[in-house]
Amino acid sequence: MIKLKNIYKTFNQSTVHEFTALKDISLSIKKNELIILKGASGSGKSTLLAIIASLLKPTSGSVIVDNKQVAKLPDLHASKFRAFEIGFIFQSFNLFEYLSVKENVSVTLIPLGLKQDEIDKKVKRALRLANISHKQNAVARDLSGGEKQRVAIARALVNDPKIILCDEPTANLDKKNSLSFIEVIKDLKEKGFTIIIATHDSIFDSLQNVDKVVKIQNGEIK
Ligand SMILES: Nc1ncnc2c1ncn2[C@@H]1O[C@H](COP(=O)(O)OP(=O)(O)O)[C@@H](O)[C@H]1O
Ligand SMILES: [Mg+2]
Repeated sequence: MIKLKNIYKTFNQSTVHEFTALKDISLSIKKNELIILKGASGSGKSTLLAIIASLLKPTSGSVIVDNKQVAKLPDLHASKFRAFEIGFIFQSFNLFEYLSVKENVSVTLIPLGLKQDEIDKKVKRALRLANISHKQNAVARDLSGGEKQRVAIARALVNDPKIILCDEPTANLDKKNSLSFIEVIKDLKEKGFTIIIATHDSIFDSLQNVDKVVKIQNGEIK
């Protein structure tokens, strides 16, 4: 499903600020695997997720996602690839505070150019998967942190992505909501999604159906 080969990422190349954030990363992830990418702050987790999502291009190395050479996609194709294949869950929920839950989730579908009834169907399904249907008409700013996270999960799922990338998903959640996030992840794993969670939260140590824990340190896999 995902194949990274000899990935290097150097920021600000050939300047005094040159910094190599990823060094010779090779990683293979199969369909339906649940991977924990573990590492301290600054170790390169977000950079690696951004490369998989084709938000960033590696300086060298190859990235194959779902049989596509993602590292070589021109920007327009990269956005299309993301719109169809990737669900991204961030540590800050990045919701539109004055839009309803339903509207926040629909936003992901804009690039797909779907008809309204298809949009409604997909939004309904995503809200159900993320266990937040009962709040569909609430305005985002009136939700609790845990509820906001569930809206963010629904938004990540609404385009039927094959791959779900989570960047420190529990960083802004209390213990109870972190545990309920883990329950949603378990459920998504059972439903066949491929999931990568970048985190340094030890709460994920209790997650049982993890296929691989990948440790990253100073941009290198340990
Ligand atoms: N756009 C950028 N320009 C320069 N340096 C960056 C940029 N993005 C990230 N870095 C650096 O790369 C390193 C890894 O960052 P990041 O992938 O965000 O780590 P993590 O997500 O594990 O905290 C950090 O030292 C960070 O400062
Ligand atoms: Mg990060």
